[in-house]
Amino acid sequence: MGDAQGVAGKLALVTGASRGIGAAIARRLASAGCELLLVGRSENALAAVAREIGKSGGSAGCISVDLGDAEQTAELVQAVREKYGRLDVLVNNAGIAEPASLSETSVEMWDRHMAVNARAPFVLSSRFTDLLARSADGVIVNIGSVVSHKGYVNQGAYAASKHAMLGLTKVLARELHPRGVRVHLVSPGGVATDMISGVRPDIDLSELMDPEEVAKVVEFLIGMDGVATVDEIAVRRRQSEPWK
Ligand SMILES: NC(=O)c1ccc[n+]([C@@H]2O[C@H](COP(=O)([O-])OP(=O)(O)OC[C@H]3O[C@@H](n4cnc5c(N)ncnc54)[C@H](OP(=O)(O)O)[C@@H]3O)[C@@H](O)[C@H]2O)c1
Repeated sequence: MGDAQGVAGKLALVTGASRGIGAAIARRLASAGCELLLVGRSENALAAVAREIGKSGGSAGCISVDLGDAEQTAELVQAVREKYGRLDVLVNNAGIAEPASLSETSVEMWDRHMAVNARAPFVLSSRFTDLLARSADGVIVNIGSVVSHKGYVNQGAYAASKHAMLGLTKVLARELHPRGVRVHLVSPGGVATDMISGVRPDIDLSELMDPEEVAKVVEFLIGMDGVATVDEIAVRRRQSEPWK
């Protein structure tokens, strides 16, 4: 899967690249020829992923940022502007999920989920729009979840934040299409990472998807082109089925 020619040479920023799904996406895009910007809080963990990419012949820079902090998120945008002045791919992957029933969910916990899982993707997507629009094929991939579409007990704040990401993606896709930027949402079910061990310790990780499977989908979405918008598909459908 994936069109390496469509991916090679792109500058891709991946949030939450220090482990789990984000690290798998970063490694996969690097092996397809992307230059990587790895974002997360843990400097050491980011550096370890960057070293691994370097050893395989790829190139990755690290930026340590707490995306729960609005000021640090704005500084990340500024740092990328000053140091690189361009961006082709943004993968909003960083996320948190703290299990609690809604009656046990504190306002702080709610705000933390919304800040990392919804506000940071909004800030990065909207503040990088001009750089992405200048790219020959700017792409945003948001890592949602099955929980962007469904609700499960003890995942109230997480579900609300992932539903917010779904709404954000729908609007971004329409607003950025005229500027040549594609926007996608990937909604995985259970993936074997630290997150799922924390949220669902009852689940056997060996029964879940490997992060690499999500990374393959992300690489495919970045490499594809010539995709009709929802509006264009609706027009075609009306033309071919005028009775509907
Ligand atoms: N695992 C699943 O079953 C599953 C299913 C569907 C969707 N997802 C989504 O996939 C994405 C990745 O999840 P994962 O399973 O790979 O989780 P993970 O293993 O817990 O990794 C989360 C990543 O996000 C980063 N991160 C967390 N808080 C951050 C913050 N405040 N600022 C910057 N970076 C932060 C972490 O890095 P630091 O700790 O170093 O900051 C880490 O790199 C999330 O958006 C999650 O909702 C996961």
